[in-house]
Amino acid sequence: MESGIWHPYTPGIGGNEILIDSGQGAFLYTKEGRKILDAISSWWVNVHGHGHPYIAECIGNQAKKLEQVIFAGFTHQPAENLAKRILEFLPGKMGRVFFSDNGSTAVEVAIKMALQYFHITGQKRNKVVALQNAYHGDTFGAMAVGARGPFSEAFKELMFEVKFINPPYWDGFHPDSRPDQGLKMAEILFSQGDVAAIIVEPLIQGAGGMQMYPSTWLDEVFSLAKKHKVLTIADEVFTGFYRTGLPFASSHLTTKPDIVCLSKGLTAGFIPMGLTVCQEFVAEPFYQKDYAHTLYHGHSFTANPLACAAALASLDLFELDSFKPKLEIILDAQKSFYEKLKRLFPHFLPRVTGTVVAITLNPNDGVDYTHKSRGLIYSYFIERDLLVRPIGNVLYIVPPYCIEIQDLQNLHNSIIEFLESN
Ligand SMILES: Cc1ncc(COP(=O)(O)O)c(C=O)c1O
Repeated sequence: MESGIWHPYTPGIGGNEILIDSGQGAFLYTKEGRKILDAISSWWVNVHGHGHPYIAECIGNQAKKLEQVIFAGFTHQPAENLAKRILEFLPGKMGRVFFSDNGSTAVEVAIKMALQYFHITGQKRNKVVALQNAYHGDTFGAMAVGARGPFSEAFKELMFEVKFINPPYWDGFHPDSRPDQGLKMAEILFSQGDVAAIIVEPLIQGAGGMQMYPSTWLDEVFSLAKKHKVLTIADEVFTGFYRTGLPFASSHLTTKPDIVCLSKGLTAGFIPMGLTVCQEFVAEPFYQKDYAHTLYHGHSFTANPLACAAALASLDLFELDSFKPKLEIILDAQKSFYEKLKRLFPHFLPRVTGTVVAITLNPNDGVDYTHKSRGLIYSYFIERDLLVRPIGNVLYIVPPYCIEIQDLQNLHNSIIEFLESN
């Protein structure tokens, strides 16, 4: 398209994009009649698929009533309702909800909350620990706590220093099979007394290559962090809202995080929004009505009522009696697909967590975002009207929960055909 748009993550700023006219359920449609299966829920956001009529109706109704209001000094019912429901829905005892605009800003807020918590309580802790291969977004703070690589190369001297520890990744068969230096490193770093927070993508590191690690390991890291009074941040921007089979990846943990970041599935792909949710004790030092204790962060569209209406509607859909049985069908199908991949292609390190299945082509090359396999995989599938957008040499699927089982099985078969022919 020659319209002057500069597309994201697109070498040469773009020019060959497919013009999508509409979306319904698990499919995207072009005016020329192409029907493309969205196997990655459009960057993992469309949990209920496209064009869900109930969500559209709720947004429409809200738009006729109140589309936006400044969120300092004012509030509105959709935000009040959403905060209450999210606090009930999240595991653990979360106490406060802070609104922002997307996943990156939810992470920025979490980092600021944690650092300022120690600043205003007079404790000298200003270091952040994160996981190797992490991705937390593209704004500066979120980028700093992510792995250094092509995304951040041009800015590497401007980012604050972060210490990275290694989770024990699946080798394709056993979640715990790699030697674990991460725990030892965490203990060393936490015991130095200057670490404010550890931030993780719990159980699945998405953009870092769908790398998966066990909840038992994270439980140990979080309890070590608690022992050393380090705040724990779970970035559930990708893993939230049933991606791992349970409502949140943190639902698998015994030691719950102090701060949780949400976005993507939160509004089911209709309107961007981010939330940073924290336990009451994190918010407490900010309660003094003193400018020095104020969290100076906010966005023009903070808690946009239409986005809140979308999120509330999406939560309603999760509560339908039909949702859990459908989710179970998807979980079973993904598990069987993983078993098959493990039998046929063990060398591609197949892995599964909940609704997410991934494999790594050319695993000896590591996960490489710029890997030559990327173009090959993408073209193969898009020519067959399947939207499968690999992360370099990592081929993965993250289907919307509304996908028909037959469509999911056809997708599985296409992936197996691709692997057999390459
Ligand atoms: C775990 C995680 N955190 C944060 C982000 C950033 O979210 P956004 O793209 O909405 O800024 C992403 C995006 O992929 C993500 O996967």
